[in-house]
Order: sequence, then structure tokens, then C-alpha cells
Amino acid sequence: MGESVLTAGAEPGFRRENGELVCDGVSLGLIAADVGTPVYVYSAASIKSQFEKLSSVLAEVPHRLHYSVKANSNLAILGQLRRHGAGVDVVSGGEMYRAQSAGFKGSDIVFSGVGKTERELIEALALGVLLINVESEDELTLLDQVAGRLGVAAPVALRVNPEVMVDTPHPYTRTGGKGMKFGIPFDETLIVAQRALGMKHIRLIGIDMHVGSQISQFEPYEIGLARLMQLWHEIGASGASDLRYLDIGGGLAVSYDAGHAVDIDGFAAVVRRMVPPGEVKLILEPGRFLVGNAGILLTRVLYRKRSGGKNFIIVDAGMNDLIRPSHYNAYHRLEAVNPTGARTTADVVGPVCESGDFLGLHRDIDDVQPGELMAVHSAGAYGFVMSSNYNSRPRVAEVLVDKGRYGMVTEREQYSDLVRKERLEPEWRSAE
Ligand code: LLP
Repeated sequence: MGESVLTAGAEPGFRRENGELVCDGVSLGLIAADVGTPVYVYSAASIKSQFEKLSSVLAEVPHRLHYSVKANSNLAILGQLRRHGAGVDVVSGGEMYRAQSAGFKGSDIVFSGVGKTERELIEALALGVLLINVESEDELTLLDQVAGRLGVAAPVALRVNPEVMVDTPHPYTRTGGKGMKFGIPFDETLIVAQRALGMKHIRLIGIDMHVGSQISQFEPYEIGLARLMQLWHEIGASGASDLRYLDIGGGLAVSYDAGHAVDIDGFAAVVRRMVPPGEVKLILEPGRFLVGNAGILLTRVLYRKRSGGKNFIIVDAGMNDLIRPSHYNAYHRLEAVNPTGARTTADVVGPVCESGDFLGLHRDIDDVQPGELMAVHSAGAYGFVMSSNYNSRPRVAEVLVDKGRYGMVTEREQYSDLVRKERLEPEWRSAE
């Protein structure tokens, strides 16, 4: 057997064997030859390991991890997390449908989101979800009416905006700051809670926050939790006898390179200190932490060229397949699957007709040649789920590696899928 070197951030997952980057012992070259490129490849073992890590640091606190489906909503991954004992956090009727399709029951589901429609509220109540995280007084009023019509009591947690400053890599991934669209402003929550307590079809059973994403410090959680616990007691003193769920959202960071992961032991210590034992059931909504480093986007080099004194590596994956570099200026580690040792400095770009279509700019990188494979690391979260058909590019395949085997968990789209819902000639309807 040859050397086996762990790559940064990876335990199970992606590592080198005899020089080749493999996924838990399965050759990426083999997967690419079989299903083509670009393709997302996920490690089931890595997801399991992350789930167990987070569960074990929180072992002393009664809690449940409700996986945030938006991070990666593939059915096979949802099914795996369900078998590990996770619940889910969903933000749309579509995610609720996926969760059900993966075997989750209503009682496993927390429904979050700033703009739930009436239809979605009806669906959630009909399904009997554990919790609806309500983000405004308007939403609460509508939910009370809808629940009344259905003859049920809606299980509600109020999503509070704890108004904490959060340092995430990009402003778009901050949610818990003052003046943002998310949650009920901190100083209005008590009043909204008192109104909720007076509503016939609302059962106020929790409070909730989500302060942002890719958070590598635990101070925002500490401040947010202090504010939530203050409200917990104030709402309790206002007559809420049924409060039991404290949902502290997601946001735990992973390492995209060395050194940006959250210290989950420190995080757990904060939780243990701030959450009174016995009184509360803690809910967490981790997304990225569970799946971010469990996936790569595997792409093949199409061409090399030079322009304006720069080297370009043109690959077959573009911004429509992975939008994070272009949308958030996000860093994803790029490396050759079979490096030769030669290095270069280059922009790695896709085929999409946009100057913003890149996977990495001015990178010191393996000198990959046309036909060779590259891995775009840490693409397990907010990768495939944010992909689109821009430039009429069919969405790519997804493959799961588990116990030395691999299997397709999403088929690559065909050209025919691109036009499946379209009409060359509309079915005209009279406007009279
Ligand atoms: N709960 C709620 C209510 C959320 O809005 C989110 C993420 C999560 C949980 C999960 O957060 P996580 O543990 O994954 O950080 N597209 C961006 C990230 C957007 C996150 C949106 N909300 C990115 O690619 O970085």
C-alpha cells in the first residue's frame, strides 16, 4: 500500500492514496470516467463523522440536531441523516416535500423562513410539524387564522433577531444584525409574544434565533443566547406555561482552508453554561457543518490559454454549477486529482459567458493540463442546491460514496430536461 495523506480539514472524505485524490478509497478518476464531469461527489462517512462530533460535544444537553435542508437537499443525504437520528429544518414547501420523501415525519420538522405562504402554513399544519418559527406579527396573525380554519393549534416559536454583530466572510451570510429582514426585532418580541399568548389557535412553545452562517467564533451565540434566555424568562413571566424549545439556529463554520472552523468544544461549553439544565430542549439547525467538507465538485480541464499576461485554466464546471466563488467571492481550495508536481499561477474559469464565471482567481495551483481532473473542495454545502441552468447548461450529477462503493444520487440532466416545462406555442387564453 502507498502513502495515505489527510488533506486539510478532512478525516474521512478526500485524501491522497498513491498520489491520487480519492474519496474514502474510491477513485475519483473512476467516478469521472463512469458518470462524466462535472459531478458532485459526497462522502457518507464524512457526514456521519461530523454529525457524531457535534452530537457528542452536546451530549450532556438535551438537544436535537435539525439538519438545515437548504445546505444540501439531496434525498440520499437526507435519508442518511435521518438514520443518524437528525430532524430537519426546512424553509419552503418544497423542502418539506423533500423531507417527507426522505422519510421524515411531521414531528421531525422545524419550519423556518421569513416569507412562508398561506399554502405552506396549511401544509405544515396538516403535516403536524414540531415547530413553526414565526418571523413577524403578520405571519402570526395569518397562522392563527389558518390554524383556526383547520381546527388545530399551531406549535410556534418566535424567531427573534437578537441584534448581534456577526463576523462572517461575506455580508450576505449575516442574518442576526439590527435592521435585517430576519426575525422579530429584539425589543418587540415580548409584545408579540404577549399577543401570541392571547391568540386562540397559537401554542407558543419556543423561541428561536439564527445569527448567520460560517461563524467561526462562538461569541455571537453567547450574546444571542443571553438575549434569548432573558426573553425566555420575560415571556414565562407573562404567562407562557408551555415554553420548552430553544432553537439556536445553524451557522457553525467549517474550514475552507486551514484555520476557519469553529471550535465546537468552545461552542458546546457556551451552550452548557447558558442553557439551564432540565428546563429546555435545545434545537440546532446545522447545515454547512454537517455537509460542507463532505463534498467536492469534480471538474475536467478543457483548455489552457494566456491572455493579458495571465494564465487561464478553463474547466467544464461553471458558476451555474457552483456559484459561491462568484456570488460571495468565496474561497474554495482547488487541486489536481493527479498532480504531477508542476505548479503555476492561474485563474480557474468556467465556460459560462460572464466575466464573473470563475472558481478561483490568481491561484498558485497545480499545473493541470487539458483532460486532467480537478477537485473543487468544500462544495458539499450550498453547491448543487444553488446551481442553475444558466446558459442552458444541464444540471450536473451527484454521487455518494459509502463503504467503498459509489452510487449516483442525482442523474445528470439531459437537454430535453431544459425545455420540459416550456411551450414552443403557448396555449392561448382569451383575456376577455
Ligand atoms: N437555519 C436558518 C434559519 C438558516 O437561514 C440557515 C442558513 C441555517 C439554519 C443553516 O446555516 P449553516 O449551518 O449552513 O450555516 N448560501 C450561503 C449560506 C446561506 C445560509 C442561509 N441560511 C453560502 O453559500 O455561504
